[in-house]
Amino acid sequence: MTAQRDGMAELTEALGGRLAFGADYNPEQWPEEVWDEDVALMRAAGVTMVSVGIFSWALLEPEPGKHDFGWLDRVLDRLHAGGIHVDLATATASPPPWFLLEHPDAALVDGAGVRRTFGSRQAYCPSSPAFRGAAVRMAGAMAERYADHPAVVMWHVSNEYADHNWHCYCDVSAAAYRDWLRDRYGSLDALNDAWATAFWSQHYTDWEQIGPPREVSYNSFANPGQQLDWWRFSSDAQRDLFRAEAAAVREHSDAPLTTNFMGFFKPLDYRGWAAEQDIVSNDHYLIGAEPDRTQHLAMTADLLRSLAGGRSWLLMEHSTSAVNWQPRNLAKVPGEMRRNSFQHLARGADGVMFFQWRASRGGAEKFHSAMVPHAGTESRLWRDVCRLGDDVRAIAEVAGSRVAPASVALLFDWPSWWAATLDSHPSVDVDPLVTARAWHKVCWGRNIGVDVIGPADGLEGYDVVVLPVQYLLDDATVARLTAYVRGGGTLVATYFSGIVDEHDHIRLGGYPGALRDLLGIRVEEFHPLPEGETVPLAGLKEGVGRVWSELGRATGAEVVASYAVGPCAGAPAITRHAVGRGMAWYVGTELTAEALDEVADEVLGAVEPVVEGLPAGVEAVRRLGAEASYLFVVNHTHETVIVPIDGVDLLGGSTGAPHVVKAGDVAVIRQP
Ligand code: GLA
Repeated sequence: MTAQRDGMAELTEALGGRLAFGADYNPEQWPEEVWDEDVALMRAAGVTMVSVGIFSWALLEPEPGKHDFGWLDRVLDRLHAGGIHVDLATATASPPPWFLLEHPDAALVDGAGVRRTFGSRQAYCPSSPAFRGAAVRMAGAMAERYADHPAVVMWHVSNEYADHNWHCYCDVSAAAYRDWLRDRYGSLDALNDAWATAFWSQHYTDWEQIGPPREVSYNSFANPGQQLDWWRFSSDAQRDLFRAEAAAVREHSDAPLTTNFMGFFKPLDYRGWAAEQDIVSNDHYLIGAEPDRTQHLAMTADLLRSLAGGRSWLLMEHSTSAVNWQPRNLAKVPGEMRRNSFQHLARGADGVMFFQWRASRGGAEKFHSAMVPHAGTESRLWRDVCRLGDDVRAIAEVAGSRVAPASVALLFDWPSWWAATLDSHPSVDVDPLVTARAWHKVCWGRNIGVDVIGPADGLEGYDVVVLPVQYLLDDATVARLTAYVRGGGTLVATYFSGIVDEHDHIRLGGYPGALRDLLGIRVEEFHPLPEGETVPLAGLKEGVGRVWSELGRATGAEVVASYAVGPCAGAPAITRHAVGRGMAWYVGTELTAEALDEVADEVLGAVEPVVEGLPAGVEAVRRLGAEASYLFVVNHTHETVIVPIDGVDLLGGSTGAPHVVKAGDVAVIRQP
């Protein structure tokens, strides 16, 4: 469900038609003399908006109920005088030291029952009424004071909910969990049934007997139903806190509001959050050592656009260069920050923001890159920041345009992800995100547009729908997938999909119970592979499977490839089943990149890329505006590329056709 309100369009208007460009701004880390220089440099870099006050609670409320807003008044006034707009935080991301002293029972408790202490950030229990009360009061006080401040154009509620406190196992949380379970199940009978408590003597006769899945007896497993519901509950508990804080802001202000997501962040099912954002926003950080980090960025941006219902969204944070929290914090190579930024913009972001404006001189993040590095403005990084500011200004007209409809939908569902990765499963090597990334990568490499959709999203218009390890499927989704294929769609389901219902109960009678008929196959037994081993497949040129194999047979499907050796020799590994006017493919193992490419040639062969004929490593995405379309080209390669397209490059200024995009360079080509 998408929010009714297009807060991103409101923001663009408030920014005078410019894209959001800026960063988290933490002036409280600096003496006031620096603030004037900050504003001057922001102007020089083309900054339009900064996020202020995210971690300022302790300075804004130094004693319970006593506020000191003076310094923030002066910051906001200075920013306003300099023409810089503000995304103002509720300042509730991390409580001050006094809070946990006053409310020791609001501190985070881990699964072993140990209370975590103050000293970092976000060390609170999300279900704590004391925390909620204090955060709501603070959020309300901020909104009341600054709702009419002319610099403030949007609200930033808390920050990255759950980043450091995703599950709290304290007694308060336990009680909240029981309430949540009562709501979900209505009766203990229903809960006992859903959790299969007949197993291991777990039958409950009183709600008070139920607790969170804290650490259990040695070398054993907590009840899977209890675990799965715990993930659900914990995501909802964080959302309830967001709702309470957002409501406190909305009492005083109509400006659009957001809380920043973290892409494929496992603890929060953002599908249940997105509709409550006026602006859907995201923080994305590359894992510097990852060869496929660029594709990870693209897939995350595709998720964000899907969460925003296809509308524009906001990149709230990324880094200008290195971060501080990876084992080796690799600096970005020249041009990488610019390419990263344009990937987000291409995929629907109407702004690029960073963490943070000025690199800190103290604190845990002092080695995190920023827009103003420790070296100051005599630096390549600063020059790159200013250049990006120019670029962002040059393409302002793309604001509000929509990314052209995608041809492929990748189904990615949080509850299924949680359930698929619980313990006591056939193999620890099964990871829905890995499989999803592999399928996104073959599309990305071919410049085929992908939406990352949820089970309730519509399937109309997609040429291909992919289910990567969609372990948990409810009946309604199965019915819609079946109708999609009958109507002419192409479905690809991988191994370990359709195995259980929403209670994590096996769908009996042969795997994959939910999809057996649609796929025309029946699997009797899983044969996951030993760590690092592969199994050759007969029927493909480059056929090798990893992670998984299984013993089954086709009951209507055509066998495309089968296991060549081993206990499953001769059994189907890849099948396709003509159903109605469509086709349902099944891939029963994790394909190596080469094998997947070969299968993708078949499955995606008829799907049109955004632009024909671009070499690998050149990313192309089209955004459609009311009067023009914009082809974003990001050249990740070391070679110049010729783009056979007629139009005007908003960045380089070249007109006509073709366009030359140099190694590592970016173009945004406007076409009527
Ligand atoms: C997150 C937080 C920021 C900062 C950055 C560092 O995105 O929101 O406060 O810690 O990470 O990468």
